Amino acid sequence: MSKILVTGGTGYIGSHTVVELYKAGYTPVIIDNLSNSSSKILAQIEKIIGVKPEFHQFDLCDTEQTTAFINNNPDISGIIHFAASKAVGESVQKPLKYYHNNFFSLINLLEAYQEKKINFVFSSSCTVYGEPDALPVTESAPVKRASSPYGNTKQIAEEILAESAAAYDNYNIIALRYFNPVGAHESALIGELPLGVPQNLLPFITQTAIGKREKLTVFGNDFDTPDGYCIRDFIHVVDLAKAHVAAIQLLEKGNPNGKYDVFNVGTGKGYSVLEAIKAFEKVSGKTLNYEVGPRREGDIVKVYGDVTKSSSELGWKAQLGIEEMMSSAWKWENYLKENPIE
Ligand code: UD1
Repeated sequence: MSKILVTGGTGYIGSHTVVELYKAGYTPVIIDNLSNSSSKILAQIEKIIGVKPEFHQFDLCDTEQTTAFINNNPDISGIIHFAASKAVGESVQKPLKYYHNNFFSLINLLEAYQEKKINFVFSSSCTVYGEPDALPVTESAPVKRASSPYGNTKQIAEEILAESAAAYDNYNIIALRYFNPVGAHESALIGELPLGVPQNLLPFITQTAIGKREKLTVFGNDFDTPDGYCIRDFIHVVDLAKAHVAAIQLLEKGNPNGKYDVFNVGTGKGYSVLEAIKAFEKVSGKTLNYEVGPRREGDIVKVYGDVTKSSSELGWKAQLGIEEMMSSAWKWENYLKENPIE
């Protein structure tokens, strides 16, 4: 079966995608520099699928190593490119790190394939929409000025990919714009492993509930929304992983929309931060210690995706709901308590 290169394959979304690729009959091959993940995830993946995926540890910013790897692996037919720096706050402090890592790795990969055909799936984000003018936001909504260097890397990467697909015959590309990935594999053997203090909502909720953090601070409840809390389109990471398999399959069949395409990957339904907390409390049976604090600078008030195009043209639709997202995240946090992964 076809070999698919998964860059960043030991990371949160990458590891779940490796599992789903394997289940769909592909042979995933991982490249990761382990800058924000653990090699122990390979053994966890093996516990789920029964085989240890092929793994190569190096930095895709290294042009020579990347080119040599691609030349030595001519049987790779597709790439799912997750490997990137992704902390919004850090990107404001260290913009050059973000531009360096996120662009050199992307360009090295594309250049290594200049003479060869490749199907390429890129990890993009709903952050490209900024605060949308209309909801649910469709793929044709305007891309708004990025509010962080991280967001800017996603926008510019999409432009690099669109221009490359237009200019060269050999690339067939899909960018997936993720909404808010949460949850973990049902086995609780893989999940999100935040380094240090989590910046995102869900790991902060589960770490608070398990006692690793004293309390969650909710960043504002006076927004122009029905309950005053921000609204997000939370998407189960396993559903998100499956969207990547669907994207590879569409590229293999030939995408009638052309050589570059974008899809929203969300559920299409928005939940407020308060509703997310309540859903967590319901499935965990825990009362969450939280307080409302000031707004976080740069936060989007409400965003959820129109998933009509993903459903009709990508042939993918989210199956799992908010309670499955919360219960799997909670099960994973409990697993980590007993089986810490450093
Ligand atoms: C954030 C990034 C976004 C990125 C995404 C990646 C910002 C401004 N945006 O999105 O660019 O693509 O992560 O996963 O950082 N919240 C709290 N308390 C917390 C943490 C979060 O109240 O401790 C709230 C936030 O204010 C927000 C919601 O929970 O309303 C979701 O936050 P988060 O998980 O950080 O995701 P985004 O802000 O959507």
